Amino acid sequence: MDLRTSVAGIELKNPVMPASGPLVGDDEKILYIERLGVGGIVTKTISTKAAEVPRPCIGGGTSYVMNAELWSELPPEKWINEILPRLKRELKVPMIVSVGYTKEDMEQLIPELDKFADGFEVSTHYVGKDLSVIGEIVSTIRKNTDKPIFMKMSPHIPDRIGFAKVARDNGANGVVAINSLGPTLKIDPKGRQIVFGGKDGYVWVSGPYIKPLALAVVYEVSHAVEGIDVIGVGGIATADDVVEFLLAGAKAVQLLSSALIQGKDIYKRIVDSLPRALEKYGFRSVQEVIETELEWNVKYEPDHPKVDLDKCTFCKVCEWVCPYWAIWVDKEAKTVTVDEDKCFGCGLCQTRCPVNAISGVMPVEGKWR
Ligand SMILES: Cc1cc2nc3c(=O)[nH]c(=O)nc-3n(C[C@H](O)[C@H](O)[C@H](O)COP(=O)(O)O)c2cc1C
Repeated sequence: MDLRTSVAGIELKNPVMPASGPLVGDDEKILYIERLGVGGIVTKTISTKAAEVPRPCIGGGTSYVMNAELWSELPPEKWINEILPRLKRELKVPMIVSVGYTKEDMEQLIPELDKFADGFEVSTHYVGKDLSVIGEIVSTIRKNTDKPIFMKMSPHIPDRIGFAKVARDNGANGVVAINSLGPTLKIDPKGRQIVFGGKDGYVWVSGPYIKPLALAVVYEVSHAVEGIDVIGVGGIATADDVVEFLLAGAKAVQLLSSALIQGKDIYKRIVDSLPRALEKYGFRSVQEVIETELEWNVKYEPDHPKVDLDKCTFCKVCEWVCPYWAIWVDKEAKTVTVDEDKCFGCGLCQTRCPVNAISGVMPVEGKWR
């Protein structure tokens, strides 16, 4: 199976990369992640000053991570004099160096970092929403490098298409979508306190919770803005997720939170299972997925659920969750009744059935995770 892809001219042996964060926080960590088979590397965001990170700074549930990490806690000198020279010697995959934040930071950093980077990813997380500021940051970087520039989009940017166009028009080659979502809060009612975060208490959410948003942003930007390559990031946990992002319009992907929730070897599991996932959906290469256009099926007439009584365990989940009171389960009689006058054809029962006994409403099979 051909897993190769190319994003803004950077050739990758497969489309999977780590997203900027603690797992790519120095040379040891980056070389460890490389050994798991990823197609390329992205570093932790480097800025002109080391970040003062509040502790604790990372918490994780089963489907989400909350963090207050900021950027690299290491000073730029350590990256420039030790970490990046070693990586330049030892890394065998392309390295995208993540940088932040202001135009002045870029004037100082890019000339020093340029010789190590195959491309730059620029965090815009803390620079506000003014697109003219984004434009100035990109043009400042462009004056100091010929390498591909990827502007990383935070989901709190209101005009995403405008962001991508300003990035492109000032010399960027790509957009990385999306950064973590927020700001958000974690509250401890017992201690009457905000659990963690910086002085303002805010933290940022990432992981599978944000995948639908990330997919929508990738789709929106890749379809609305020509001449810009999109790297998709946000909630990827499986090889199937990678296929979804490529179908949405990404040319490569990144992930972090699922590795924080499940363990670092998820990179290896995803890369190793990608050929099987492609095969399952009838693709012969990553390139073929990227070139596939999604169909958009909109209709307004309802379809009603069909229940396979051989699979049904009469657990009543469909009855409990139905928002239209349209489905009844009789455990003793082993019957499931759908009142088609009440049924709105919403699809929820099909996506919640634990044994996949319901079909006919959603065009996809199976319980949603
Ligand atoms: C602990 C943590 C630290 C992060 N640090 C950075 C960072 O330094 N620079 C950056 O651009 N994004 C950072 N991110 C955001 C991720 O790179 C990524 O965009 C986001 O988490 C969504 O992807 P995911 O759901 O796969 O984690 C961080 C995320 C987490 C959870």
